[in-house]
Amino acid sequence: GAPVAVDISKIQPGQLIRVEWRGKPVWVVSRTQKVLDELSTLDDKLRDPASEQAQQPDYATNPLRSLKSEIFIAVGICTHLGCSPTYLPDSFSEQVEGVESGFFCPCHGSKFDMAGRVFQNVPAPLNLVIPPHYYVSESQIVIG
Ligand code: FES
Repeated sequence: GAPVAVDISKIQPGQLIRVEWRGKPVWVVSRTQKVLDELSTLDDKLRDPASEQAQQPDYATNPLRSLKSEIFIAVGICTHLGCSPTYLPDSFSEQVEGVESGFFCPCHGSKFDMAGRVFQNVPAPLNLVIPPHYYVSESQIVIG
């Protein structure tokens, strides 16, 4: 599959842009400072907080799983059986108490944080996959 360019010059705080790459949904999400602060508090609720089992490029093997902290990029496919989780920017606390933002898979209830890390006690075995990507400029990312 060909690489896909994504213009992020107009992305708003909290917004998710969905693109297709190799027939898969890829998310580009703008994370607010509040979200970033929240991410650093979740380790004991997560199955693999350091993403040791997860699939991601070396440059995304860090606590935020990204090149830039405010932009999160992931393949939007649940690691259980392949449904696409729903982005809940404001109402995720109905799924995980005390956590405002995250992704919820409607198929069997798996839950992921804003770095795509899976919560404990759900069917999905692994964190979401981070696809290869790079910045062409401040406002343009290429996936692939
Ligand atoms: Fe997502 Fe089963 S496919 S929980």
